[in-house]
Amino acid sequence: MKSINLNIQDAVYFAEKQFEANKDQAVEAISKLENGTGAGNDFIGWVNLPKEIPAELVNRINATAERLRENCEYVVCIGIGGSYLGAKAVITALSDSFADFYAPAPKSPKVLYAGQNIGEEYTAELLKLLEGKKFGIIVISKSGTTTEPAIAFRVLKDQLEKQAGKDAAKDLIVAITDANKGALRAMADKEGYETYVIPDNVGGRFSVLTPVGLLPIAVAGHDIARLIAGAADMLEATAHPGDDNIAETYARVRNALYASGKKIELLVNYNPKLHYFAEWWKQLYGESEGKEGKGIFPASVDNTTDLHSMGQWIQEGERTIFETVISVKKPAVSVRVPENAENLDGINYLAGKNIDEVNKMAELGTKIAHVEGGVPNIRIELDKLDEYVLGGLIYFFEKACGISGYILGVNPFNQPGVEAYKKNMFALLEKPGYEKESEAIKAKL
Ligand code: PA5
Repeated sequence: MKSINLNIQDAVYFAEKQFEANKDQAVEAISKLENGTGAGNDFIGWVNLPKEIPAELVNRINATAERLRENCEYVVCIGIGGSYLGAKAVITALSDSFADFYAPAPKSPKVLYAGQNIGEEYTAELLKLLEGKKFGIIVISKSGTTTEPAIAFRVLKDQLEKQAGKDAAKDLIVAITDANKGALRAMADKEGYETYVIPDNVGGRFSVLTPVGLLPIAVAGHDIARLIAGAADMLEATAHPGDDNIAETYARVRNALYASGKKIELLVNYNPKLHYFAEWWKQLYGESEGKEGKGIFPASVDNTTDLHSMGQWIQEGERTIFETVISVKKPAVSVRVPENAENLDGINYLAGKNIDEVNKMAELGTKIAHVEGGVPNIRIELDKLDEYVLGGLIYFFEKACGISGYILGVNPFNQPGVEAYKKNMFALLEKPGYEKESEAIKAKL
């Protein structure tokens, strides 16, 4: 796929031997993904998903989105983890940075998020904003039993029904959940909400190209067919092993660096629109690889902002990190630095340059400094930020994650560790069924 390029030349020589050594494992990992013969193979529905999404589903999603766009000033997406990060990543990357500061326009609702935290103030402030407003809800939970979105949904549904009336509220709520299981499925069926199904064989963090991501992205006014097309082209480009398979190369180089002692990967952007893309990526890699006492720690920085906070550590801290930089070749707009006769700020040497020319020199200068300081640099260059390229980037990272997890020797598709906090929280909150755990945890306090 020509619009996304991977460059590992400033990374691979830090771990040349390890890179050569993991080639066979990568080939085997791709075969496991293609043939469904690896650990967690009941959760690899995402591998062929982009070429299997029926046109009728895309049309239905677009029709639902249009209905919400026509009837709402605000649409609240309720979900946590894989049930909101993909949508937020794409919507943030494709939207005006100040979109939230403009008043809602007809047929262009603001997309807001809830259920991704249990902040009381956040919830209260959201309810206040929505007071007297026309709003809709997309509630997303694969299990249909996650506490954070369940609380947000109960609270917001209550307000919506009070404001719009129970009958009208029903048409302003869409539920995305399992086909049969879970409290959300039961509630949606009973209340008669429109529903979409999250396929059984697609885990939360791999679900952005299902209705989980597609519906909120369509509500925000973005072209989901192009997003899917980009992912489908990346699927073709990464289906087979080879030196031209960029997902394989990325998976190999990051594992080679890990084996050589680089335990932390920083996803770096030079465009604030990609902040939430990094949040999505962190969940994808963190939940997929951090298990059995292993796994690269996925972290992220927004540059040049964070060069003024984290730059010192990256340049001279413990040499256990490497960077993966996402760089966008061409901004969509142009702003030049103006000439100033007095030049009191001393930046006339930049006059006439586009802001992005300065940004690119900051990126290059940082790369040279960091590589010389012992920080390997992987670079992913995107032609531009649009639906097609982002679809390709999403699939690239998903595919590389599957390959990488298998090279590392873990099941990349489960998340057993996530249950530990839930068990304790339920015990502390005395959830029915957790009586024994309640007693045990209270004895520790
Ligand atoms: O990737 C995952 O599986 C998780 O992060 C889930 O997406 C998250 O826990 C939310 O789960 P659910 O969609 O069941 O509410």
